[in-house]
Amino acid sequence: MGDTTLYERLGERPGIRAVVDDFYDRLLADDDLGPFFEGADVESLRRTQTDFLCEAAGGPETYDAAPVREAHIDVPFTPAHIERAVELLYESLDEYGVPDEDADAVVQAVAQYEDDLLASPEDDAV
Ligand code: HEM
Repeated sequence: MGDTTLYERLGERPGIRAVVDDFYDRLLADDDLGPFFEGADVESLRRTQTDFLCEAAGGPETYDAAPVREAHIDVPFTPAHIERAVELLYESLDEYGVPDEDADAVVQAVAQYEDDLLASPEDDAV
């Protein structure tokens, strides 16, 4: 692997988009997580999530949607929801043959926002 970047190993934007599409298909089909996306503009989420992961993997893209905390402040996630989402993301990465070490790096890029994903409006009120 030497001097390749994670972005290159994932297949640059098309490879990352494929994983993101698979991940969103799994999220939408999930009994617990799917309902959160009712009425959401999923097409735009697929695109912004692709930007987010491209940037995190060292690509030239920049994530310019709402900050993660702001985007999810009204979504009542529990830690179990985030665990389930991480599980599904690993399944998508595995589906595309991403090796464990690279899969861990991608999951880490999302998981480090766990506190922001779990934040609720009351957190800001106190
Ligand atoms: C850290 C990586 C993530 C980023 C950058 C991200 C980004 C976003 C953005 C930009 C929005 C749209 C906000 C808006 O337009 O109002 C959003 C909404 C949402 N995200 Fe994420 N997200 C991330 C992780 C997750 C995870 C792990 C889940 C787990 C299921 C998730 C589920 C949702 C849901 C349910 C919505 C609300 C849809 C709606 O009602 O409009 N997100 N996210």
